Amino acid sequence: MPEIICFEVTNRCNLDCLHCNKIINTRPVKDISIELVDRVLTEAKPFNPRVVALTGGEPTVHKDFERLLATVERHDIDYTITTNGQNFRDTHKALIRHASRLTGITLSLEGASARTNDKVRGAGSFDRVLEAMDLCRRHGIGFGVQTVVSTVNINELEAIVALVAAQGADPINFILMRPSPRNIQEGLLLDLEAAELVEQRVGQLKVVTTGIRVDMTLGYYSPWPLFACRPLGLAMIDVDYNGCLRFCPDLSNYRGAGSAEDDNDVVADLNEVSLQKALKAMAQRVAVFWQNKIDHTAAEDLGPTDHFPCYYCLRYFNKADCLDL
Ligand SMILES: C[S@@+](CC[C@H](N)C(=O)[O-])C[C@H]1O[C@@H](n2cnc3c(N)ncnc32)[C@H](O)[C@@H]1O
Ligand code: SF4
Repeated sequence: MPEIICFEVTNRCNLDCLHCNKIINTRPVKDISIELVDRVLTEAKPFNPRVVALTGGEPTVHKDFERLLATVERHDIDYTITTNGQNFRDTHKALIRHASRLTGITLSLEGASARTNDKVRGAGSFDRVLEAMDLCRRHGIGFGVQTVVSTVNINELEAIVALVAAQGADPINFILMRPSPRNIQEGLLLDLEAAELVEQRVGQLKVVTTGIRVDMTLGYYSPWPLFACRPLGLAMIDVDYNGCLRFCPDLSNYRGAGSAEDDNDVVADLNEVSLQKALKAMAQRVAVFWQNKIDHTAAEDLGPTDHFPCYYCLRYFNKADCLDL
């Protein structure tokens, strides 16, 4: 505890995906301080973290990407990176040079063909991510694939699994798309009924698929209101590009948040306080969260979307004020 330390290393990105729920490239663009990463990892040692997860924005566009990798590697802890793979021809060399604790990378893909994937991620992105898979294979870099389930790809989940299995990916992980004004406007958001069925569809795929693990990130429908995800169990912490400890990686810098409330999921500024102090602040915030949810549940004050844990949190942290949830 924390088992996973997530660093959102930049708010810059080389794509502008239609489904994306992160505010990218619009604010003053910023990359995380490598000295802060170094200090947090030093202070995390007594907590025995299992893995560091690098994400963003697009983590590979961090202005000092190689030094960032070298710093993480020096701490002798497993690490992974989630990337869109668009500049992999350049960046894979740095990953190879710092691969001693790299457990694999995750490439994001939104469809089984250029037609569907590029509708969400932009022209040419399918070919480039397939090239990234090819480079991984040739250089022995293990890779998985992550797909955000939306109206664009809901009918090709099987085809996506077949495609990425043929490319040598393992695992394939599906995520239910979290809403943002733009992805709603673009008609990408599944209705609640279809969203509930995704878990079943992925469950069936798990059973019939061989040779590749099929997973689904938590956040889908749960009949149990007191459902505990990783951040709520202090098993995963998130440090953003400003060096702030955030309540959850999926809530920070959220596209769709009202500007005034945007940062109310900031738990502590690690430029100012130690990790120990920040974790204690997180424990307190989690306790308040549970008390609040218990009260709402006991008062039968939960709506249908509240059974999707991420939707509940979006509302709790005022990230959904311009969404009709
Ligand atoms: C924010 S991106 C950062 C890493 C990198 N830029 C990428 O796209 O892989 C991390 C993951 O979040 C996913 N993601 C983006 N928007 C999402 C949304 N609205 N709901 C759920 N996941 C989303 C992306 O597809 C990607 O797999
Ligand atoms: S999903 Fe990733 S690649 Fe796409 S815009 Fe968001 S951060 Fe960039």
